Amino acid sequence: MADEPLVLGIETSCDETGVGIVRGTTLLADAVASSVNDHARYGGVVPEIASRAHLEAMVPTIQRALDTAGVKASDLDGIAVTAGPGLAGALLVGVSAAKAYAWALDKPLYGVNHLASHICVDQLEHGRLPSPTMALLVSGGHSSLLLSEDITSDVRPLGATIDDAAGEAFDKVARVLGLGFPGGPVVDRMAREGDPRSIAFPRGLSGAKDPAYDFSFSGLKTAVARWVEAKRRAGEDVPVADVAASFQEAVTDVLTRKAVKACKDSGVDHLMIGGGVAANSRLREMAQQRCDKAGIRLRVPRPGLCTDNGAMVAALGSEMVWRGRTPSSADLSADSSLPVTEVHVPAAGAAAGAGGAGADGGAHGDVHGQAYRALGGGR
Ligand code: KG4
Ligand code: ZN
Repeated sequence: MADEPLVLGIETSCDETGVGIVRGTTLLADAVASSVNDHARYGGVVPEIASRAHLEAMVPTIQRALDTAGVKASDLDGIAVTAGPGLAGALLVGVSAAKAYAWALDKPLYGVNHLASHICVDQLEHGRLPSPTMALLVSGGHSSLLLSEDITSDVRPLGATIDDAAGEAFDKVARVLGLGFPGGPVVDRMAREGDPRSIAFPRGLSGAKDPAYDFSFSGLKTAVARWVEAKRRAGEDVPVADVAASFQEAVTDVLTRKAVKACKDSGVDHLMIGGGVAANSRLREMAQQRCDKAGIRLRVPRPGLCTDNGAMVAALGSEMVWRGRTPSSADLSADSSLPVTEVHVPAAGAAAGAGGAGADGGAHGDVHGQAYRALGGGR
């Protein structure tokens, strides 16, 4: 609808410079510039490289998103940006760009939570989230079960990983198997050729006395590494596809079982799965089967919207405008450890984890100037 809020969202919490434009719950543009190839040879994301890449990509990616959406920057009703959690220097580039555009265009600014954005993005595909919604959030840095009454104001954690995140486990297992970085997509592909029942890897925190909604993937990761190591020591070939499939089965079994249990225990008949690991084909399949059996409606965005992107930030920003939430103040800062309960950052001085000036090697100052020039020197 033409009267729904038109919002541009900026995401720079890790290695993806994402800029999305959303009107209400309709996606108009989703531009992404990734520095993933620059990190691959280090086996993980290098924060300084990510910050520099964001700085170079920011203004062109914003321009590309505006062109694709066919809207003018002056038409926007707001600018949303990931304020945390994430890499401090990388976040600062996005926050600085968002502040510069908001100031130059005289638009309200919304600093939002990356994790809540991963949930809200599903509105672009399946319409407004029901209240309450159970969300299984599985990414490279987080694995949580969250109960939300209203994605703009109320997200309650029921459980989380006590050690590694699910995506981290995929990345580490891929490294052990020599499959490269990031590990999730390649393990997913390899697993299709393997037998998921060939190796009985452990299911963490699945005993009767274990916390029902918490996760643990560190023991599983170590079990995979030991199993592979034993094979190599014995001079035997490692059946990579079988290891990938059996590992993936263990992760998805635990995630889906606990998510369905949380829904049943709380009497919630909707489950949303978000975050990079929600792109996993086996997780999607198993979640569908188990939800169907339990009478739960499953909502999972298409894989391209599960991994980090700007559309998810725009989706949450648009919802903030729609629900009349207070914009962030002009001195909004990044918070690298922003808790999931802080869906948006309306008040001043939330700079706790950002590392202060210089955390990004001066990149945020540069992006201010670029944004200013891109808009023709001012308003
Ligand atoms: O949400 P995301 O893009 O970034 C973070 O906020 O962390 O998630 C990235 C994580 C990585 O660990 C990556 O290996 C994992 O999501 N991932 C996958 C798949 N695609 C990405 N894990 C399993 N299967 C996939 N198809
Ligand atoms: Zn993410």
